[in-house]
Amino acid sequence: MGRKLKNPEGATPCPQPRRNFNSKLGEEYMLFSRALPYFPEFQQMVGKSIRAKMGANKVFLILEIGCGPGTTTIDLLRLNRKARIIGIDISEVMLTQARGFLSGYIERGRLELIHADATECLLSLPSESVDSIASAWVLHNFTQDARRELQAEIFRVLRKGGVFVNGDKYAEEDPLLHKKAYERVLGMMRSTFIKEGKYDLCKEWDEHMEEDEKPERKMFESISIQQLKEIGFHEVEKVWRHLTDAVLIAIK
Ligand SMILES: C[S@@+](CC[C@H](N)C(=O)[O-])C[C@H]1O[C@@H](n2cnc3c(N)ncnc32)[C@H](O)[C@@H]1O
Repeated sequence: MGRKLKNPEGATPCPQPRRNFNSKLGEEYMLFSRALPYFPEFQQMVGKSIRAKMGANKVFLILEIGCGPGTTTIDLLRLNRKARIIGIDISEVMLTQARGFLSGYIERGRLELIHADATECLLSLPSESVDSIASAWVLHNFTQDARRELQAEIFRVLRKGGVFVNGDKYAEEDPLLHKKAYERVLGMMRSTFIKEGKYDLCKEWDEHMEEDEKPERKMFESISIQQLKEIGFHEVEKVWRHLTDAVLIAIK
């Protein structure tokens, strides 16, 4: 794999097609993880979906896009005991937390962390070279064009039969259902941050959530499934949903 990815932080041109978490959002991400009661179940679904498709006893590689502080990685590692993981993240703030949290796995050689923009990293990999790719709450941060480019790269680097699992904010088509779900999630987040006296953090998350709803970023479940099929994935299914979030599995 190409390791010479130059200036990952600077890889994002303006206007921001991708967002990094080198901010309060990244520094206090663990508080966000406590705001949503379904956070553990959501994360485990990503790890379990990889296991269901790859098999519990197989030795294989998982490329994780946007590993953050390790909140998805830990379940990928625990639920796929024979897998080796390469976690990619564009944010040094997040990677510093992941290195501390997952140091044992890094020492034992099961995990490698790379500071890079995910698309650039994938562009540096040969076609059909990766068994599986997992991600959680990352792709919705990309603008529509940047996401399409990333998903096409995911397809290219996956080997035939390989699996892509993405847990993310996937809006339902029905605007009323989506609005209800969105307001419940926002309510849970606000009450957690306010209880902790984190007013600035609350404002930052409010702005982040608002931006996710704009047409240039908003990710609809049905359109996403269609796009993955158009890219070439032959089997795409939703295996889990709660409020605004869903887990999709796509097989090459
Ligand atoms: C909301 S966090 C999710 C972390 C973890 N996967 C989880 O579900 O808890 C999104 C992560 O994606 C990373 N990210 C966003 N855009 C990226 C990109 N273009 N390349 C690599 N990582 C990216 C951010 O830095 C952040 O750590």
